[in-house]
Amino acid sequence: MTKLAVLCSGRGSDLQSIIDAINDKKFSAEISIVITDKPNVPALTRAENAGIKNICVDRKKFSTRAEFEAEILKNLSEIDLVVLAGFMRILSPDFVKKFSGRLMNIHPSLLPAFPGAHAHRDVLNYGVKISGCTVHFVDEGTDSGPIILQKAVEVFDDDTEETLAARVLEQEHIIYPQAIKLFVEGKLKIEGRKVKIL
Ligand code: GAR
Repeated sequence: MTKLAVLCSGRGSDLQSIIDAINDKKFSAEISIVITDKPNVPALTRAENAGIKNICVDRKKFSTRAEFEAEILKNLSEIDLVVLAGFMRILSPDFVKKFSGRLMNIHPSLLPAFPGAHAHRDVLNYGVKISGCTVHFVDEGTDSGPIILQKAVEVFDDDTEETLAARVLEQEHIIYPQAIKLFVEGKLKIEGRKVKIL
């Protein structure tokens, strides 16, 4: 059984879509642990309600990123795939190397456009007509790794960050479980910058 660890920072709706897909038997995997970098966030409650082990590794309690990551790593020794689901921290190159090809992220834009922490704001300021979401393997850059799946959504003239985020999120909840299913079933092959779906 493929063992997943899901790392979150807040609301955890992407986490919920993965929990729901597993409960609906869309693919065969287990979430062994949910880890957050902040205490008392809804993602922890969602994990608790689903009977999944959950811990907070509070970033504020560590003076360096290396110590923070070392604490997270203690919990990942038997994990096959690390899933970043709204985890709003940049992981170090050392961490990324350890999980090369088994570390996924979802980003709320059509990468490589609008990387970073404020994708929806940047999309609206720029004035693009199409946005969307991207699931990708994580490399040592920010939102720059090989792309697994993407889904486009229209941007409307009267969109706010909130309305656009909600429309994109609906698609995130579809493609993140799909990408994890492909990984679990051994159907993803990374060839340089490209991910082939077998
Ligand atoms: C999602 O929109 C996800 O794509 C985004 O944070 C949100 C988390 O929502 N991630 C990033 O912006 C990463 N740079 P959630 O907590 O409800 O899953």
